Amino acid sequence: MRNEQKKYYIATFGCQMNVHDSEKMAGILNSNDYKEVSSAQDADVVIFNTCSIREKAEHKFFSELGRIKMLKKKKPGLKIAVAGCIAQQHGKKLLKRASFVDCVIGPQNIHQIFDTLQHADRSAVTSGGNETIAETEMPVFRKTDISALVNIMYGCNNFCSYCIVPHTRGREQSRASQSIINEIRSLAEKGYKEVTLLGQNVNSYASDLDFPELLAKINEIEGILRIRFVTSNPKDLSEKLIEVMRDSEKICEHLHLPLQSGSTKILSMMNRKYSYEKYFQKVELLRKMIPDIAITTDIIAGFPQETDDDHALTMNSLRELSFDGIYAFKFSPRKGTSAALMDGQVDQTVRAERLQEILDIQNDITELKNKKLEGTTQEILIDGIDEKDSGLYTGRTRTNKIITVPKNDNIRKGLLLNVLINQANRHSLNTIL
Ligand code: SAH
Ligand code: SF4
Ligand code: F3S
Repeated sequence: MRNEQKKYYIATFGCQMNVHDSEKMAGILNSNDYKEVSSAQDADVVIFNTCSIREKAEHKFFSELGRIKMLKKKKPGLKIAVAGCIAQQHGKKLLKRASFVDCVIGPQNIHQIFDTLQHADRSAVTSGGNETIAETEMPVFRKTDISALVNIMYGCNNFCSYCIVPHTRGREQSRASQSIINEIRSLAEKGYKEVTLLGQNVNSYASDLDFPELLAKINEIEGILRIRFVTSNPKDLSEKLIEVMRDSEKICEHLHLPLQSGSTKILSMMNRKYSYEKYFQKVELLRKMIPDIAITTDIIAGFPQETDDDHALTMNSLRELSFDGIYAFKFSPRKGTSAALMDGQVDQTVRAERLQEILDIQNDITELKNKKLEGTTQEILIDGIDEKDSGLYTGRTRTNKIITVPKNDNIRKGLLLNVLINQANRHSLNTIL
């Protein structure tokens, strides 16, 4: 007689890399007779796929973990696994800190998730790096059906002084181009229309092809209509890449290009390896070669030794560069990174004030930029149904702006169409068709 299928629930925190790792863990478990359920209450196994990028992300996980402890008291057979960046960072120590955790598995070891759960005996699989992760093919179980995430590289070599990622994800490894292309071809056969290529620094992709060459190849894959990629590091953004973006009709006119600070002094302390002037020149070139491109960025407020003048430079950079959107964060010292030990840590309240000023100024800029789209025609890809209003479809413009579209008989998911933008808000655009 067949054993009853084990039920698992995955709670995912953090970036798209983690979202995709969860899709891979689900793929592996599904092909080993496990079944995904949508709540921890219904599960035999709960996997936390964690993020340690900032203190807040860590807190979020530890408070969820506290909640699951109660559930385990009621359901002693429940297995609890911790995966992701916190798992890698804390390793075995997590087992000590939380006696109800059964196993810990790092992001470079997710291919071992099934075996680890089989012997969930308070073990930690985080030792060393996985030097062959880029060659490890894993089944993927995606919940999306139009747009798919695809890893092109793993790890990071940059060691920005504030960042935990190189410590949790190991050194850069690029997947062979053929393996990426095969995966995207099979996605196209399944009906996917859009791919987002993932890497901590996609433009340092280096295998048998470089990143622009890889993009040009993917642009030829039939059935795929749109190509996106995250994240690009300004230091490696080449003219060759901008040319390929301009010349490949499927590559969307959007670039996420984290600036972090408008002060060259702070950028240097961050080990970003570009000056503000260099960044500015790259944006100018991008806008010259691809006039409609949308550029988004990340900013850190209150890095060690950031003075009022440095902060003013960041504020000025936002005015000057006029981003389509930003993600801004208070500096959060991460154990094991060099910035955590720097002199001149900025007072928490100052960090918060600076962050608020950054968000306020950018809110106006984002809204103004979106308003400019009112009355224009934009190509959109319909990719889902609005979570709040099931009478609306959602889609994205090529510039990655969210748009809502009223339902009608001619509209379906996966459709690419040109629409008139009737109304623009800070967070989304609307069309009445
Ligand atoms: N690989 C990507 C981003 C990774 S993390 C890149 O290089 O752009 C995403 C963002 O989190 C970073 O761009 C940075 O702005 C922010 N971040 C990373 N570490 C941080 C820290 N210690 N404190 C505050 N923000 C941080
Ligand atoms: Fe972190 Fe810098 Fe690597 Fe991005 S490039 S993951 S910010 S170390
Ligand atoms: Fe991503 Fe968080 Fe790790 S942002 S790489 S899951 S620290």
